[in-house]
Amino acid sequence: MSDSPPFDPAFFRQVLGQLPTGVTVVTAAGPAGPAGLAIGSFGSVSLDPPLVMFMPGKSSSSWPVIEAAGHFGVNILAEDQADMSNLFASKAEDKFAGLEWTTKITGAPIFESALAWVDCEVAQVVEGGDHWIVLGRVLDLGVQRDDAGPLVFLAGKYGAFAPLG
Ligand SMILES: Cc1cc2nc3c(=O)[nH]c(=O)nc-3n(C[C@H](O)[C@H](O)[C@H](O)COP(=O)(O)O)c2cc1C
Repeated sequence: MSDSPPFDPAFFRQVLGQLPTGVTVVTAAGPAGPAGLAIGSFGSVSLDPPLVMFMPGKSSSSWPVIEAAGHFGVNILAEDQADMSNLFASKAEDKFAGLEWTTKITGAPIFESALAWVDCEVAQVVEGGDHWIVLGRVLDLGVQRDDAGPLVFLAGKYGAFAPLG
């Protein structure tokens, strides 16, 4: 059996794009400054031990900085932060220019405008095709806003969450 897919990449993306995700910015403090990228593939894995996961692509330039740091901070974005998602989805030279952030335990940048944050150490990295599957052990976490809902991403577009009823 061949490893190449029996369907074209656009169709793969169209089908899998039917499932909405939240949007996070995953960061780390590197020796030459902070690094970070927009990540939709973030999720919780385990409560005991407390584990979360995300999947950076192998072409990510931020991932090697995060891996070398051995830690990462997850900023769960609010519905008014699509601009921040676009900034961290870019290949801009210095994505952090002009931004302010705080740090928790690991030193990874946490933005005060994010809905919630999770501070982690890298626990395990598994190969997943053209991505890495990164498991992080949660060291600390918190919610810092109650005036907004989460930023949602579906079929290439941003939206907000609207409860039924
Ligand atoms: C909403 C959204 C979700 C994304 N989710 C992921 C993801 O889960 N994994 C990934 O590798 N890239 C994801 N990206 C794309 C990266 O943010 C993008 O490739 C970025 O340029 C990587 O930056 P870097 O090369 O500095 O790491 C996402 C982009 C957006 C807008």
